[in-house]
Amino acid sequence: MDIQTQSIIDRLSGAPLPRHIAIIMDGNGRWAKQRSLPRSAGHYEGVTSVRRATELCSDTGVGFLTLYAFSTENWNRPQEEVDTLMTLIGMAIERETPDLVRNNVRLRLIGDIERMPADARDRLERCRQATSHCSGLTLSLCLSYSSRWEIAEAARRLARLAADGSISADEIGEEAVEAGLATSGMPAPDLLIRTGGEKRLSNFLLWQAAYAELYFTDTLWPDFGKEALADAMADFQCRERRFGRTSEQVEADTAFQADS
Ligand code: FPP
Repeated sequence: MDIQTQSIIDRLSGAPLPRHIAIIMDGNGRWAKQRSLPRSAGHYEGVTSVRRATELCSDTGVGFLTLYAFSTENWNRPQEEVDTLMTLIGMAIERETPDLVRNNVRLRLIGDIERMPADARDRLERCRQATSHCSGLTLSLCLSYSSRWEIAEAARRLARLAADGSISADEIGEEAVEAGLATSGMPAPDLLIRTGGEKRLSNFLLWQAAYAELYFTDTLWPDFGKEALADAMADFQCRERRFGRTSEQVEADTAFQADS
C-alpha cells in the first residue's frame, strides 16, 4: 500500500467499517461536459475511480463492493454511447484481471448479462473465472441490472417452484425471496453511496438496501477518489444503526457486547 493511501486510512476511527459498500457511480457525462469533452471521456476517467475504490476497499478489509455500472434503463441511451460503454467495460476488466488476482479480489457479475454483446460478456466471464478462487474483496459489477427486474426474476422462480409442488405458498417468506436475488449469499449493503448530486436510488438494490445508510455527494464519479470514499466511510462510522430499535436498546446492546 502506498503512503498516501495509508495516511487516508489512518484518518479513519476505530469504529466498525461497512462490510458491504454499494455505489451508484453518477456524473461521468457532466464531468466530460465541464471540460468540453465527449461523454465517453467521462466514462474512461470513471474507470480510474473504479480502480481507486476497489483498492481502498481491499486495503481497508471491506468485504464487498457492489458497483452500478450499467442499468437496464441505460440500454435506452444513444447506441454510440452504449457501444462505447460495453467496449470500455470489457477492455477495462480484461486489463485489470491480473491486478485483481494479485490483490485477491473476486469478480461477481450481477444482472441480465446475456443481454450484453458477446465480446464484453466473454471478457467479463474470463475475469470472473480467473478470480473465482480469490477470497478477499468481492467486487460485484451490476450490468444490465435493475432491482425490479431482479425481484421479478425471483418471484418467477418461486412461482415455478410452487407450481411444480416443490414448495408451498406458505413457505415463501423473506428468506426464500432473498435466495432468488442475484446478490444471494452476500450480506446486505451497509453503506450506499451515490455520487453526482442526485438523491435517488434509480432501481438499484431496492430490496437489499432496506437498512443501508445512504450517502449522497455532489462529487462527480471521475473526481471521486480514495479520500472522498474515506469521507463516506468516516460518515458511516458516526451513524447509529438501530434497525427499528430504540437508541437506548442499541446502547445497552453495545455495552453488553463490550462486557462479554
Ligand atoms: C453514470 O454517469 C455512469 C454510467 C452510466 C457508467 C458507469 C460506468 C463506468 C464508470 C465504467 C465502469 C467500468 C468498469 C470496469 C466497471 P452518467 O453518464 O449518467 O453521467 P451524467 O449524469 O453526468 O450524465
